[in-house]
Amino acid sequence: MDSLPELDLSLQSNGGPHSSTLPHKQPFVIGVAGGTASGKTTVCNMIISQLHDQRVVLVNQDSFYHPPSVEKLKKIHEYNFDHPDAFDTELLLSCMEKLKNGEAVSIPNYDFKGHKRSEQARQINPSDVFILEGILILHDPRVRDLMNMKIFVDSDSDVRLSRRIQRDTVERGRNIENVLDQYARSVKPSFEEFILPTKKYADIIIPRGADNDVAIDLIVQHICTKLGQHDLCKIYSNVFVIFSTFQI
Ligand code: ADP
Ligand code: C5P
Repeated sequence: MDSLPELDLSLQSNGGPHSSTLPHKQPFVIGVAGGTASGKTTVCNMIISQLHDQRVVLVNQDSFYHPPSVEKLKKIHEYNFDHPDAFDTELLLSCMEKLKNGEAVSIPNYDFKGHKRSEQARQINPSDVFILEGILILHDPRVRDLMNMKIFVDSDSDVRLSRRIQRDTVERGRNIENVLDQYARSVKPSFEEFILPTKKYADIIIPRGADNDVAIDLIVQHICTKLGQHDLCKIYSNVFVIFSTFQI
């Protein structure tokens, strides 16, 4: 049996740029990693909905997939979308640099059915909080260095596979045979080789993903505390100080 993942909210600094207080006007950047269908997007949406009076922007790492070449598209069943090289990390870094400098950027939308960037890009404005979400968002040290808080969503692999079958057949234009073949050929091996090892960089590990309301509440309180604005957040932050002396 796996050892119990821990939710460590003891505010350790993992080399992020702002270990205790935020410099004026700098956005708070949160990274959310985890295996495919672990619930990363769902967790992010729960955090965003609880941060209702903050300006929060979700940036998906999927937006930065390299479009495979025409040659590679012909053999798409051999392409590894779970390898770090599948992503245009330079583009992600330059977009984040601009956003942190207060400039708006345009980022691609990704089309999972066509394995390409959609024609319509997405305009993103500077914001108070950015959430960077993706399977390998904690992989590159330069991206990790942008983050004030790093989260790893840890869900059971059988649960993830069953969700992936459901989602990819309904939403991403795949059939069960495709999904299972891709899972065995590249998704699972790359999870073990590249994604799971990034768990060690996380400040917070969320067992059971979006089912873990307690973890999500505590994360939201921590963000509020760091943003230091809201009266309610100040009340919660006192509660948080009590909780943060424990590991859950
Ligand atoms: P990820 O972003 O990690 O790929 P998602 O949050 O998109 O994962 O979730 C993948 C699928 O699983 C979605 O269809 C989502 O609705 C579903 N899902 C996520 N978390 C849960 C949960 N706790 N219970 C039930 N279904 C869930
Ligand atoms: O939403 P999720 O985190 O699951 O998205 C990442 C997954 O999308 C990867 O595991 C990758 O295998 C899959 N993917 C795909 N086809 C693409 C791009 C990504 O199946 N064209």
